[in-house]
Amino acid sequence: MISNQSGREQWGSKVGFILAAAGSAVGLGNIWAFPYVVGSNGGAAFIFIYLLCVGIIGLPVLLAEVLLGRTTQRNPVGTFKTLSNSKFWHAVGAMGIAAGFIILSFYAVVAGWSLGYIFEAVRGVFFDFSAPTDAEAHFNSLVGNPVWIIGMLVLFMFVTMVIVLSGVRKGIEKGSKILMPLLFILLLGVMFRGITMEGSSAGLYFLFNPDWSKISAGTVLVALGQAFFTLSLGMGAMMTYGSYMSKKDNVVSSSVQIVGLDTSIALIAGVAIFSAVFAIGLDPAEGPGLIFHTLPNVFTQMAGGYVFSILFFVLLFVAALTSAMSLLEVVTAYFVDEKKWNRKKAALVLGSFALLLGLPSALSYNLMSDFTIFGLNFFDLTFYITFNIMLPLGGFLISLFLAWVWGVDKAVVELKKGAESLFEKAGWQISIWKVCVKYIAPIMIFLVLLSSIGII
Ligand code: PHE
Repeated sequence: MISNQSGREQWGSKVGFILAAAGSAVGLGNIWAFPYVVGSNGGAAFIFIYLLCVGIIGLPVLLAEVLLGRTTQRNPVGTFKTLSNSKFWHAVGAMGIAAGFIILSFYAVVAGWSLGYIFEAVRGVFFDFSAPTDAEAHFNSLVGNPVWIIGMLVLFMFVTMVIVLSGVRKGIEKGSKILMPLLFILLLGVMFRGITMEGSSAGLYFLFNPDWSKISAGTVLVALGQAFFTLSLGMGAMMTYGSYMSKKDNVVSSSVQIVGLDTSIALIAGVAIFSAVFAIGLDPAEGPGLIFHTLPNVFTQMAGGYVFSILFFVLLFVAALTSAMSLLEVVTAYFVDEKKWNRKKAALVLGSFALLLGLPSALSYNLMSDFTIFGLNFFDLTFYITFNIMLPLGGFLISLFLAWVWGVDKAVVELKKGAESLFEKAGWQISIWKVCVKYIAPIMIFLVLLSSIGII
């Protein structure tokens, strides 16, 4: 086993880290959320703001997280404990771990749908529909059935736990090395099918032709939340993955590659889905049900639809699995590092607790649908709290910590390790990063958060 001096596991190779981290980033956020969020927020103008958030906030915060993890070789709480004595910062680490745990609970519910839809696709049920509304009715009847929704949740969580308990190298890295190339091939296949459909260009027009009138302060918050969620930022997942890196690895180039992969996969998924949706004349602003209500109708109307429907839901499942692994890894790493639990026990016990917390989310679609807090059901509430509040707030605090508490100059010294040759060529890019983590990222996130609670 490759490990550091204290015997803690490390990635077996540089590409192992990049694939695992890209696996964390690329998930339901890219294939399920990105297309519907773009569809409901007006298309190209939203994409523009989202790309801006990724470039000037997402990438700098990603670099910060990976670097903090690599420097301390610890989980998020351990990272803050190593670099600061203040209880406040320890609590920030704990908030990240809590956010990861809550996200895992509802994430696994949607991931369970993708698993269940593989079975539906194999059975060929989509081809029995006689009207487009049948797809929506079928989705509602599936999620309305507590046995189905909980069964899929349990099955999905079980697979996630088995991979995480197998270890960083033997589980997460090995799994990502198989699953990520598979995901890429499947996605290219689905995209190719989408753009070769007649009438698909209307979808491309919607995606790439901005309508600025659709942009408001609310849109900017969604774009920022989406940037954090899709890059797995603001809660310590990237910090934890960074903690298994060695000082010989290049944090800068790896982070740039992760952002590049995540962004291109979201855009490719958008192209694949919107070209098909527009080719068939369906509604792009369908919301969270977009891929489950709409795509079955797309599959029944296209040549090779049976095979592509199976491929698509396998793709969605694979993407969700590599992200769920990273969510479970954050809490697992905390209990392994700080509480000295063994990995198997930690993954099984914590995965089971996340499953229990997932139950009310699963039941939000059936038995508990009338149970609402602030007008949101349990699923929507946990989604809202993490996506709109905890992740941006976590990102804000992490950038403040790195720049102002630990100190940006100390960070740069650490950043240079493993990236010496890059520093010679790219000195000015490093200066831009310093300005971004010190000022631009925290100020922008702060303003967006204030506007979201109605203060500005
Ligand atoms: N990035 C994942 C996705 O896009 C979700 C995720 C968020 C994973 C936070 C880990 C941490 O689906």
